[in-house]
Amino acid sequence: MSGQRRTALHTLYGYTLNTKSAVVTGAGSGIGKECLQTLLAEGWNVFALDISEIDRDRLLAADYAAKCTSLQCDVSDSSSVERAFRHIGTQTEKLNALICCAGILRTGSLESMTTEAFDAVFSVNVRGSWLCARIGIPFLERAAQESGPSRIIFVSSTAALRPKVGAGAYSASKAALGNLTRSFAAELASRGILVNAVAPGAVDTPLWGTLDPASVGGYKPGGLSPIGRMANPSDIVAVIKFLLSSNSDYVAGAIIPVDAATSAARA
Ligand SMILES: NC(=O)c1ccc[n+]([C@@H]2O[C@H](COP(=O)([O-])OP(=O)(O)OC[C@H]3O[C@@H](n4cnc5c(N)ncnc54)[C@H](O)[C@@H]3O)[C@@H](O)[C@H]2O)c1
Repeated sequence: MSGQRRTALHTLYGYTLNTKSAVVTGAGSGIGKECLQTLLAEGWNVFALDISEIDRDRLLAADYAAKCTSLQCDVSDSSSVERAFRHIGTQTEKLNALICCAGILRTGSLESMTTEAFDAVFSVNVRGSWLCARIGIPFLERAAQESGPSRIIFVSSTAALRPKVGAGAYSASKAALGNLTRSFAAELASRGILVNAVAPGAVDTPLWGTLDPASVGGYKPGGLSPIGRMANPSDIVAVIKFLLSSNSDYVAGAIIPVDAATSAARA
């Protein structure tokens, strides 16, 4: 593509279509699935990582399937992440974006929750995001050298900004992810990699079905926002799209709440 044509596309859509590659973790459900489908629809090549096998026939329109490589990967396990990125390396040496959606919620008071549950939350939400970002850096840097800033986008939560009763470990993990975001942003900005996070409030996804009622421990989901509804995954992906676009070329180290003022309105 000529430089002029590339610039035209840049101007028209905010970012170059159909030549970019991304990794999306947690791509089998919820926000990650919406992100996967949106990027494929916009012409990206996507490596879709999830601990569960991704049902491509169910998730993907037939004409998008060729642009998607699905890989089973436990982001909290360094050898699993290395295996996935080794496979990615056989197909491309450049990634324009890494979007880390994989995450888990375990509820219960800090006093009562098990060590296993606490460790699981930190392993997936913090360690998993760090492992994927760390191994993705050379891919992202090579893409940045060729076509301008690459992106890492983490998915935090408004629970990081305002901890919730019954979700102390989850809130702490997302607060830690916030500082990973800021530190990675400072380390990587000069190498052309912009690192940011979105912090959703309650989003209507299958995550809520994973809650064990026995361990809920006083935890209450955020519920409706002041605008009268819960977020849909597409509300979050809209902000992720902004962070992927050239409209955010001067945004790094930001943690953007996407909760329609739910946390501000909480008594
Ligand atoms: N749903 C909400 O209300 C909400 C609010 C704020 C933040 N978030 C965050 O958004 C992100 C996505 O959540 P969601 O609501 O789409 O949840 P979801 O449960 O619908 O999807 C999460 C996906 O991550 C995958 N996953 C879990 N552990 C994994 C692992 N170890 N390795 C790889 N994949 C793994 C799951 O298989 C699933 O496909 C999470 O980080 C979550 O904490 C969600």
